Amino acid sequence: MHAIRWSEDMALGVPTMDQAHQALLAQLERLIAAPDEHFAAAYCELIATLEADFREEEQLMEKINFPARRRHSEQHARVLNGLRHADADVRQGDMAAGRDVVRMLPRWFLGHLSSMDLELAVALELAGEHHQRPPDVLLRAQLSRMLKQNMMESTRD
Ligand SMILES: [Fe+2]
Repeated sequence: MHAIRWSEDMALGVPTMDQAHQALLAQLERLIAAPDEHFAAAYCELIATLEADFREEEQLMEKINFPARRRHSEQHARVLNGLRHADADVRQGDMAAGRDVVRMLPRWFLGHLSSMDLELAVALELAGEHHQRPPDVLLRAQLSRMLKQNMMESTRD
């Protein structure tokens, strides 16, 4: 199980999303490294963070009447359901169930970031929401890096 670190080429240009993603990856890294005695509390905190981050994105989608908001929110709901499902086991001391779900999160994050969140960032820019658009060259670099990383992750399992 390995964590991924935030880097500038993951920036979408939407400050609230970029800050949330940066904090989320740091939190995920701490969770992955957490010994069993601290895992349950950290797992519970991660669920709370994701709930808040997803809610914030969903509010942005509502605000601009984003056409793909249902599809995007469904992806959020699916990952939260997976985490909540294992939460009962984690609370009863079965850390392995939680670690199994957590192991999937870095890859899920990269896939979601490079598709759904990127799409939302572009839509926010088009809607005139506060946006610091990364230069196109950076955008291409970030997409190719994420795709490569994703492919490497896929061949590792
Ligand atoms: Fe999202």
